[in-house]
Amino acid sequence: MAELVARGESERGELALLRRGDVLELRVNGVFVMDTAHTETERELATATLRAVDAAELRVLIGGLGLGFTLREVLADPRVREAHVVEIEPELLGWHRDGLVPDTAAAIRDDRVRCHVGDVAEVIAAQPPGAFDVVLLDVDNGPDFLVYDANSAIYRGEFLARCGEKLTAGGTLAIWSADTSPALRGALQEVFGNCEELAIPVRLGQHETTYHLFLAVRGAVPAR
Ligand SMILES: C[S@@+](CC[C@H](N)C(=O)[O-])C[C@H]1O[C@@H](n2cnc3c(N)ncnc32)[C@H](O)[C@@H]1O
Repeated sequence: MAELVARGESERGELALLRRGDVLELRVNGVFVMDTAHTETERELATATLRAVDAAELRVLIGGLGLGFTLREVLADPRVREAHVVEIEPELLGWHRDGLVPDTAAAIRDDRVRCHVGDVAEVIAAQPPGAFDVVLLDVDNGPDFLVYDANSAIYRGEFLARCGEKLTAGGTLAIWSADTSPALRGALQEVFGNCEELAIPVRLGQHETTYHLFLAVRGAVPAR
């Protein structure tokens, strides 16, 4: 039986934080998006990507706060100077500030965190070129399992190219997905000229599955 910890509503739908035993679960627009029992790949989204970026200082943008595990892992890297979090559901930020997710409650209060309430597509579009060394996107369960229909544009060439413009040379875009996606891999390959797919085995109780991270590196900017 699930206990309702907090509930909110926006023009997009219902937001709910549930507790099942020791586990907290987040549902957005009726879709399960995250729980505190299986956080390995959301943390790996941060660690694998930051490991791949060779820079002394890092500015990171994270699309989708969720339960804050990707953010917490980003902040664990001492090179991180700024961690911009973009979350479309304002009430979720309030729940974090109120400490409703104890595992990650300290993250949102870290001095390096800058919170943006809004659609990650619009927030990224408004940033200056080369603003970030790392962009991490985890706003859906993947390109084929969306939380909001409008998020489909996030996995297409036009928006991926927009992300590329906002990266420094050598900067990396990484996207979490519950499933493999030849279409996303192809779009990243076309925009960036490279794409690495990490397939990570995960055990969900008795059930084994594989989650996927897609990483693409912005090449050097040609001299003018
Ligand atoms: C899968 S969860 C993120 C999980 C997170 N990586 C973690 O460690 O807990 C997805 C989050 O993205 C948010 N979201 C969905 N669409 C969005 C959008 N277009 N822009 C910004 N945030 C979005 C959801 O409200 C939700 O909080």
